[in-house]
Amino acid sequence: MQLSSLPSNIQTPYYYYNIELLEETLRLVLDESKRYNYHVHYAIKANANPVLLKLISGQGFGADCVSGNEVSCALECGFPANQVVYAGVGKSDQEIELALKNDIFCFNCESLPEIEVINEIAQRMDKKVRIAIRVNPNVDAHTHHYITTGIEENKFGVYLYDLEHVITELVKLPHIELIGLHFHIGSQITDMTAFRGLCIRANEIQAKMKEKGMVLPHINFGGGLGIDYQSPETNPIPDFKAYFETFAKFFEPQPNQQIHFELGRSIIAQCGSLISKVLYIKEGKKRKFAILDAGMNDLLRPALYQAYHKIENISSDKLEEKYDVVGPICESSDCFGKDITLNATQRGDMIAIRSAGAYGETMASRYNLRNLPQSLFSK
Ligand code: LLP
Repeated sequence: MQLSSLPSNIQTPYYYYNIELLEETLRLVLDESKRYNYHVHYAIKANANPVLLKLISGQGFGADCVSGNEVSCALECGFPANQVVYAGVGKSDQEIELALKNDIFCFNCESLPEIEVINEIAQRMDKKVRIAIRVNPNVDAHTHHYITTGIEENKFGVYLYDLEHVITELVKLPHIELIGLHFHIGSQITDMTAFRGLCIRANEIQAKMKEKGMVLPHINFGGGLGIDYQSPETNPIPDFKAYFETFAKFFEPQPNQQIHFELGRSIIAQCGSLISKVLYIKEGKKRKFAILDAGMNDLLRPALYQAYHKIENISSDKLEEKYDVVGPICESSDCFGKDITLNATQRGDMIAIRSAGAYGETMASRYNLRNLPQSLFSK
């Protein structure tokens, strides 16, 4: 369905998902990753809408979770437990128990204290736990500082200088089985040289471990592949070919080693748009404001990261004018874009905020006691 033919009688704001585009994207991810026998886990945090999750699990993807609720949600939506990985710097005891009970594939662990607690809980439950160490590889992803995770000033992962010590200690823990290394350097990365840097660092780490006689069966490179927010029509599907090729070219796997990825944004961002109606046009001294019925509680990214999302008036074909496109929330940061060119806009017009499928619905809140946005699907 074209955005311009969306029904106007549905209560806005809502997220609209183009299912055909999602299916095509999933097909491409599978085609390109299977070439190298890579395993892809969908990062639930990007979008946990059950309709989308069922579709994604149905295509054979694993799931990457960061909370107990995400683990439960992944299992309910059909992701097999043996393809579920669970990361996060601060897993609570209850969350660890839940994941253990469900016998998930692997815990991605970020510190020795966490691994010790997992060992204790596993002992109580009489289980042995598969874990991967999340390594902070100190590789700069050159993305927004809020979503850079792989350098030493971030809270994430075991720092390189600590890795040997952590491994020495954890092999003593009887209920822990170390099966892999995990990395994630950041999100919205469009320059493949960052991933090349990650491969090279992973090779160095593996070489050192091999010298000590340690070869692990799994390597997980996390997610992070970016999308084209500027031109969602011309680039609806990210360059998965170049992405996986980078790892195939620069990472040197050990024999029989399995390689995993955790992709979120690149899979789900472009198929989603936030659809909203214009409540009022307000004339300021120097600018015109288009005041929408969607706010930062529905889509937080522009307010939180000054993120750019393409904005279109999908119900007007009048001459273009410039607007500041804002929401109704009592915060000046409740602004989706300044000086945006739109076809001349009036009350009642429908506005699409594009590329909002990732970190849109999942980051929505009830701030100002507003309702959570609903969702609509193209089929
Ligand atoms: N794996 C781990 C361990 C992660 O922390 C993340 C994202 C992913 C995978 C998936 O990354 P992706 O493929 O989506 O880049 N709310 C921010 C993005 C935060 C990303 C957090 N971690 C935004 O709206 O841009």
